[in-house]
Amino acid sequence: MTPPRLVVSDRPLAASDAEVIAVGIRPSEGPLLLTDSARAVEAAFGVSLSERLGRAKATAAAGEVVELPIAQGPTSRALLVGLGDGSPRALRRAGAALARKAGTDRLATDTAMGADADGVRAHLEGLLLAAYRFDRKTSPPERPALEHIDLHATGPVDGPLAAAVRTAAAVHTARDLANTPSNEKDPAWLAAQARAVGRRSGVSVRVRDERQLAAEGFGGILGVGAGSSRPPRLIEMTYRPAAKATGPHVVLVGKGITFDSGGLSLKPREAMVPMKTDMAAGGAVIAVMGALRDAGVRVRVTGLVPAAENLPGASALRPGDVITHYGGRTVEVFNTDAEGRLVLADALAYADQCLEPDLLIDLATLTGAASMGLGRRHGALYTSDDDLADDLTAAGEAAGERLWRMPLVEDYRPCLDSSVADLANISRDPTVKGGSIVAALFLREFVGGRRWAHLDIAGPARAERPEHEVTKGATGFGTRLLLRWLEGLGAGVTRGA
Ligand code: BES
Ligand code: MN
Ligand code: ZN
Repeated sequence: MTPPRLVVSDRPLAASDAEVIAVGIRPSEGPLLLTDSARAVEAAFGVSLSERLGRAKATAAAGEVVELPIAQGPTSRALLVGLGDGSPRALRRAGAALARKAGTDRLATDTAMGADADGVRAHLEGLLLAAYRFDRKTSPPERPALEHIDLHATGPVDGPLAAAVRTAAAVHTARDLANTPSNEKDPAWLAAQARAVGRRSGVSVRVRDERQLAAEGFGGILGVGAGSSRPPRLIEMTYRPAAKATGPHVVLVGKGITFDSGGLSLKPREAMVPMKTDMAAGGAVIAVMGALRDAGVRVRVTGLVPAAENLPGASALRPGDVITHYGGRTVEVFNTDAEGRLVLADALAYADQCLEPDLLIDLATLTGAASMGLGRRHGALYTSDDDLADDLTAAGEAAGERLWRMPLVEDYRPCLDSSVADLANISRDPTVKGGSIVAALFLREFVGGRRWAHLDIAGPARAERPEHEVTKGATGFGTRLLLRWLEGLGAGVTRGA
């Protein structure tokens, strides 16, 4: 879906004829403070917000929403939205809570007015992101979808508004791609989606089909895709800034497994259910690529999505098979369910050998171990580059997507030794645990010493229930943090250059 339309109005909120209006409420020691706009609403609609807030024992905590019926003209409800400590994080949550409570297709608000640009952006992002919906139902929804938001601005908001709209549009794209069921979604479909995104956003797209992959030696992508009747693809998207590029050439790599059954190392029944989202990282890369021009990103960015369907068909990879990756390195496949690293290895080796990246970032729903260890709120970040770690972590923090740095434990590396190939695709040493770390060490073998970071997003890529700006199902995790980070590159202020 496309995010709700956000339209700036310079009229006071009290003059709105929207069905639902929203005002912000700030915490205070005594009775909660009313903004000028809230007072104007009281006067215009003949209601007492203070009285209602008192009865509801409101505290104005971020995300608290108190409803007040209004019987005047077309407006039927006012929503009194707690803004908490006024930080971007609190304002993002307040925006999300407002979207959930709106229950209307048209909302008028001035809730975040008075916040700084970061706060306004965060609030509007929360509002737009929580309004996301995805289903294939044939009956009309019980609650109308939020389609139109009048933003009653009291100052200049163009910058944060544009940032929020392009960010939300990208996240919605990433969520749509990952929520799409795998009977609709195969590698060729994903490539067609990337092409459509590229056409809309001035990004050039090259897709390698299975014949080209074979001709150039992409044995990992081909091997993983071999068990499906729907052949694999390598999607390559190239963004060049309008002005001469400054700063580093960034290559983003996103795992694009359109369904992960485990292959012949078949997953248990319940574990397979969520695996349509195993291309969530690839979807995030496609979505980010599509937002770069709008965001005015100053650096050259290449997006790679190795896409394959991991099924146990008649020509599937077998345990014990040896595959040859792009560039010639061999890997013995002990477990066909460790397939993400096989397609990523090809893409990373290709990036290293052909694209001259200054910074190489991969993201992947790579291991159940990452979500066991860190839970579902943090992405696991691996890099030996402290500056890159700090920059990505800070971008995630600012954007509302948290990363937690993990160690690349050198002592574990020998567990990936194979007696017949250059590497094994899983640990051969049962005493070595830390599956997410081992997977990161495997990937590191293919980056040729480049500045590199790996994000294992198996935890936060999906949500079991709505929470704040995150909706149930695919979350689009990675899209916001990568965009934020890329927006900051090439300005001469970051260490990426
Ligand atoms: N796509 C899975 C990882 C995953 C698991 C993502 C659960 C989201 C939720 C990946 O391809 C996988 O199967 N990894 C294996 C690796 C193992 C065989 C070394 C895993 O984590 O069990
Ligand atoms: Mn797997
Ligand atoms: Zn997988």
